Amino acid sequence: MAVRRVAEETEGLIGASPPRVDGLAKVTGRARYLDDLTFPGQLWGRTIRSTLAHARILRVERDPAFDWSALTWVTAADVPGENVVDLLDDDQPFLAEGVVNHYDEPIALIAGDDRERLAEALSHVRVEYEPLPAVFDPVASTAVLRRCRYGREEERLADAFARAHRIVEGRYRVGRQEQLYLEPNAVCAVPGPDGMTLYGSMQCPFYVQRALERLLGGSGRIHVVQTVTGGGFGGKEDYPSVIAGHACLLARKAGRPVKIVYGRAEDLAATTKRHPAIVTHRTAVDAGGLLLGGEIDLVLDGGAYCTLSPVVLSRAALHAPGAYRWPCCRVEARVAATNTPPNGAFRGFGAPQALFAIEMQMERIAREIGLDPVELRRRNALREGDVTATGQTLRGSVSALAVLEAAARRAGPRPAAAPGGRVRRGRGFSLVWHGAAFTGAGELHLRSKAAVELTAAGLRVLAGSTEIGQGTETVFSQIVAEAAGLPLTAVEVAVPDTSRVPDSGPTVASRTTMVVGGTLARAARELVGRLAGWVAARHGADPANVECREGLFRDGPVVLGSFVAVATGWLEERGPLVVTAQYAPPPGIAWDEEAFHGDAYPAYGWAATAVDVEVDLDTWQTKVRSVVAAADVGRAIHPVLCEGQIEGGIAQALGWALLEEVVHEEGRVANARLASYLVPTARDVPPLVTVLVENPYAHGPFGAKGVGELPMDGPAPAVTAAVLDATGAFVAELPVTPDRLMEAMEGMRRDRLA
Ligand code: MOS
Repeated sequence: MAVRRVAEETEGLIGASPPRVDGLAKVTGRARYLDDLTFPGQLWGRTIRSTLAHARILRVERDPAFDWSALTWVTAADVPGENVVDLLDDDQPFLAEGVVNHYDEPIALIAGDDRERLAEALSHVRVEYEPLPAVFDPVASTAVLRRCRYGREEERLADAFARAHRIVEGRYRVGRQEQLYLEPNAVCAVPGPDGMTLYGSMQCPFYVQRALERLLGGSGRIHVVQTVTGGGFGGKEDYPSVIAGHACLLARKAGRPVKIVYGRAEDLAATTKRHPAIVTHRTAVDAGGLLLGGEIDLVLDGGAYCTLSPVVLSRAALHAPGAYRWPCCRVEARVAATNTPPNGAFRGFGAPQALFAIEMQMERIAREIGLDPVELRRRNALREGDVTATGQTLRGSVSALAVLEAAARRAGPRPAAAPGGRVRRGRGFSLVWHGAAFTGAGELHLRSKAAVELTAAGLRVLAGSTEIGQGTETVFSQIVAEAAGLPLTAVEVAVPDTSRVPDSGPTVASRTTMVVGGTLARAARELVGRLAGWVAARHGADPANVECREGLFRDGPVVLGSFVAVATGWLEERGPLVVTAQYAPPPGIAWDEEAFHGDAYPAYGWAATAVDVEVDLDTWQTKVRSVVAAADVGRAIHPVLCEGQIEGGIAQALGWALLEEVVHEEGRVANARLASYLVPTARDVPPLVTVLVENPYAHGPFGAKGVGELPMDGPAPAVTAAVLDATGAFVAELPVTPDRLMEAMEGMRRDRLA
C-alpha cells in the first residue's frame, strides 16, 4: 500500500524515505545474528527449570551413573555477587534458591561442547520438591506488587453520578500475548583476562550491563555488545538480563565462551509476556453522550516476579481514561503476583490493555444512549487546551479529531451486506492516544546521553539505542545528516557496545526517535558549529555566516571546503572530536509522582482505526476485510518506515484481537508451540491503509514524536466493535475466538427468550 500523507513536502532528508541503512545486509544474509557468530572453544549452555508452579526445592540430584566430567554445572551457590536480576525490585533470582515461584523457573545450568550430549544430560537431573499452594487468579491474589491511584475527587464524582442521564458499567478482559520476535533470545558470554564480554540479541545493553555487574560482583570489567537483533517488541527489554547472567555464570566457571540460544518452545514457555488485564468501568454520561465522570479499576497479572510491572502499571493507569475529556475520573490500578512466569514489557506496555477497555466502554455507552459510536467519540475527544485526567494541559500536537475524521473519510461508506444470509459484515472504530517516552519524571531521571564523532568521511553516531528492526539506524542517520548538512551516506552508526557508546537510556517506550534522535540532532549541530568556527578562522570569515550544506562548508555563496576536507584537516591538526549531548526535557514539564498529577508525557501520538469484518454465523470465524489507520506521530522522519511500524503494529494487534493467547494449565504454558500458539501470517493480513496526519511536535527532532507503540493500541477494540456491529454480540474479552463469540451469541439468544 502506498503511504498517504496529509502533508507531502520533504525537508531535505526529513520526510524522504531512503532505503534503510541496515537493509542490504539483512536481505543478503550478510548480517550476522548471535547464532551466526562462533567463538574459539565455545560451549553451549542449557537451563534446568522447575516443573511445578510453586514449591520448595528439597534436592537437586545428578544421576551418578551419567558421566558429568566434561560438563560445567552451575547453581545459585556459584553466584559470585548478588543473585538478583537488576530491574525495579530485587525479587527475582537468576537461579532459584530453596523455592520456585513459577513453572519453568531456572534452577541450575549446564554447559558442554556437544549439544546432543547436553540435551541428554538434562534428562539425568532430578529435582525433588515439596509442592506449595499456587495462586493463578490475579484478582484473588493478595500479593500486590504495586498500586497506583489518581483522580480521587470524591465529591465531584458523586455529583457526576447523581446528575447522570445514564450510568454505564462494563468489565473487560484481555489475555496474555507473546512478543514472537523472529529471533529467539540468544547470548554468548566470552571471558577474558580483564573481565567478561557479553554479546546478545537485546534492546537495552546498559540494563544488561548493570545486571551483570551486580551478578558478577565486580570481578572484572563487563562489556555488553548488542548483536544484530531479530525483533524485540519489549520482549528483549528485560529478559536478556536473565539469559546473559546465565551465560556469564557458566562462562566464568568453565573459563570458556558459552552460548545460550533458546529454541522456540523454551522461549515461548519461559520468557515474559504481555500482562493479562481485567478492567472495570463505571461511567456517568449525560443525554448527549458527554462523559460526566468515571471510575476505572484495573488489575494486571504480574506473574511471579516484579520485572517491569510497575512501569507497565503506570502506563496502563495513565492511558485508562482514553483520548477523552473527563470532568472527573478516578483510576485505581494494581498489579498482582501469581505463580506464573513473570509478565513484562510488550509493545504498548499496559496501554493496549487499558485502551481496549475504554474503547469497548465507549461502544457500550453509544449503544445504551443510542448514539453513533464515531459521533460519541467526536463529542468527547480531547482537544488542544483541554486538561487530561492527571491535570495536564494539552498544548500543541493534539490530533484526536483530525485522526478520527481522516480515518472516517478514508474508510468511506459502510460495507454492503454480504450476499447470502450466513455471513454478516460490520465496521468498528477506535480512537486512542499514546504517550511518547518515559512516564512522568522518568526522562529526567534517565539523563540520557548521545554523541556524534567526527570521522574522515563524515560523522559517526554513538548511542546506546538499538536497531531491533524498527529502523533506528536509518532514522538516526537521517536526523544527524540533516542536522549536520551532510548526505545520508556520510553518517554511520556505531554498534551499541557499552564500552564505546554513552548510555542513551533503554530502547523502549516509543522514545528513541523523539528523545535520543533529538539529542543527536543537538550534538550534530554543535559539532558542525565547532568545525564551522575553525574553518571560518582559517579563511578569515565571520563564523556566524559559515554553515555546512550538502557536505560543503560555505560562507554565503563561497565554498570554503568540503566536509571531508575539513574533517581530515581537523583530525590531523586537532585530533579526535566527539560531542556528547544530554536530553533536555521541554520547558514547563511538571510531574508529581506521589499524587500522580501533572504532565504524564511530553507528547502524545493519536490514532483512529476503522476495521471492516465479516463473521461467519456457522463457524463463528471472524475475518478482517480491511483496516484503515490514521495516525499522528508528529513529523514522519521516514514515512515508509513509519508506515511499516503501523502495518506491523496492526498485524500484531489483529493477532491479539482474534487469535493469540498464551494458555496456562496449572501455571504451565500449555501452547508453547507455533502449532498451538497461532499468530497471523502474511496471508492473514488484510488490505491496510495508513494515513499519516503529521502534526509536528515543537520539541521533537524536526517535529517527530514516537511511533513504535501507538499502532498496537487501536485495532483490537476496533475489531471487537466491528464484530458487535456485524452480529450484535458484545464480546468483552480478547481474543475474540469462535467459542467466545458463540457464547456471546447464545447469551443474547437466551436473553431474548427470557
Ligand atoms: Mo517497550 S514495551 O517500551 O520495549
